[in-house]
Order: sequence, then structure tokens, then C-alpha cells
Amino acid sequence: MKPARIVLNEPIAEDLYLLEIELVEPIDKEPKPFQFASLWIPRVKEIPLSISYAELERSRFRFIYKLRGRGTRALSETLSGSFLGVKIPLGRGIDLRELRGKKLLVVCGGVGIAPLPYLVRVCSENGYEVHVVCGFRTRQGVPPIDLVFPISPHSVHIATEDCSVGYCGDALTLAKKVSKSENFDDLIFVGPSFMLKKACEEFRDVDPMISLETLVRCGLGLCGSCYIRGSTKLLCVDGPVFRCSEVSEYLAGLPD
Ligand SMILES: Cc1cc2nc3c(=O)[nH]c(=O)nc-3n(C[C@H](O)[C@H](O)[C@H](O)COP(=O)(O)OP(=O)(O)OC[C@H]3O[C@@H](n4cnc5c(N)ncnc54)[C@H](O)[C@@H]3O)c2cc1C
Ligand code: FES
Repeated sequence: MKPARIVLNEPIAEDLYLLEIELVEPIDKEPKPFQFASLWIPRVKEIPLSISYAELERSRFRFIYKLRGRGTRALSETLSGSFLGVKIPLGRGIDLRELRGKKLLVVCGGVGIAPLPYLVRVCSENGYEVHVVCGFRTRQGVPPIDLVFPISPHSVHIATEDCSVGYCGDALTLAKKVSKSENFDDLIFVGPSFMLKKACEEFRDVDPMISLETLVRCGLGLCGSCYIRGSTKLLCVDGPVFRCSEVSEYLAGLPD
């Protein structure tokens, strides 16, 4: 666990916060997109959050988090200048060479937007094109896109379920429309588990990638709490991103 100082911790949409930390001791290995960190909120608990952006030269890392329970509420009340404990980077993340080509459609639901800014940065540095579709329930839940993405994706399409901004409907329906009007080499989905299950069913023919969430405790492959049922995989060692076909038994066991 490494100490880190909070540089910024502020709301950017309803129940959504942007956190920036600076590690006291630098790390020397660039994280991969979709790797995550485990943040220890002193006297409260440890929570896993996706790396939303990384600037290794300044030892700065960003996270986007949604208020859920005790841990995220306590984090939202922690002031700039306070210290946290951080395990970073965790997980395998993705290697761009695993992707089927250089033109990607990345689809997110709500706080699933968190890992996309760093993915976009790494992709744009390597000549990949990232098109983003993100769905939110209401206008109040939509964060400022320019603030979230320090490097702009090729395109951003927003959907809201209450029809207050952008496309009227959910992210999956909009993703279907976008993927019919243009060809993409690969698709990645990030969001709540019911959305991932539906994405794997509806885009079965292309076997997309999905970023899963399971209970993470040690983050180091030791405790087994992040085991993905019906597979031989641990999320904190092998994930959090998998092809649908690799985790089909796990998805079948999730509620619709
Ligand atoms: C690899 C990974 C990346 C994640 N990235 C993000 C992110 O970028 N932004 C974000 O807002 N959230 C992210 N999460 C989810 C985040 O970890 C939970 O929202 C957080 O732990 C909730 O803690 P809490 O005390 O506020 O809520 P609690 O009341 O303790 O829990 C609320 C819900 O959060 C989930 N949760 C709780 N503890 C854990 C845990 N140790 N591991 C996994 N899920 C848990 C469960 O679904 C639980 O029902 C990620 C989870 C994983 C596994
Ligand atoms: S969280 Fe302990 S093995 Fe993955």
C-alpha cells in the first residue's frame, strides 16, 4: 500500500465525483487501460476503482466514482490535502494487441465512463480510433464530457433514458444504431451487470469485450473473493475485461 495525497475531490454530476491523487513515491510502470486501484480510506474501508487517467511523470491518477455506500460516501467527504493508502496498478487491464483492429466502439452505462479517458489516451497515442456511446438515466447524471476526457475520443454519443439530453433511450439501443451506421473492428462494454449480460446476448455475433465487477478484497490473487463463477479466472489477476465467450457461464447466472 502506497501513501497518496488527494489533490482534487469534487462532484461532477449527480452522485458522481472526480478524484485526483498524487502518489508520495512514484511508480515507474505505465498502467494499462482498465487496470484499477484499491483505495484505503483511513478508518473506513478499502474500495476498488478503475484508473480513469494517469500522468506518470507527475505521479497523478484520476478516478471517477459514484456514491453507493459507506466507503464512497466517506471518500466524498475526504478533503483535498488528506492522505489515502493506494494499491496501484491492479488487474491485468487490456493490451491493445488483443483488440481485433484499430477502430473501436466503447459503450458505457453511468459510472462505466470511469476507465474510458485513459483508454482513449493510450489508444490515441497508438493510432487507434475510439468512438464512445454513454447512457445515463437523466441530464443531471451526465458529467461534463470535456472535463472527463482530457484527450477527446473520435466521437461521443450520449443517451438519456428520460430523453432530456441526446438520444432518447438506453446506451445499448444507441450502440446498435451507431454500429449499424458504421463498421467497427471491436466493441467494449462497461456498465452494470444487467447491461453487460444484455450486451453479450445482443452482440453475440461479434463476441465483444466486457469489463466485469466482482467483489475485490486483496486485489492480489490471494483471497479468491473475486473468483468468476463457472470459469478458472480471478478478476483481479485476469480481468476485469473479458470476451463474453470467456465468462458465459458467469453471465448466465446473473439476473436479467
Ligand atoms: C475492478 C473494479 C473497478 C471498479 N471501478 C469503479 C469506478 O471506477 N467507479 C466506481 O464508482 N465504482 C467502481 N467499482 C465499484 C466500487 O468498487 C464500489 O462501488 C465500491 O466498492 C462501493 O463501496 P461502498 O462502501 O461505497 O458501498 P457498499 O455499500 O459497501 O457497496 C455497494 C455495492 O458496491 C459493490 N461493492 C462493495 N464493495 C465492493 C468491493 N470490495 N469490490 C467490488 N464491488 C464492491 C457491491 O455491488 C455492493 O453491493 C469498481 C469495482 C471493481 C471490482
Ligand atoms: S481480490 Fe483477492 S483474489 Fe482477487
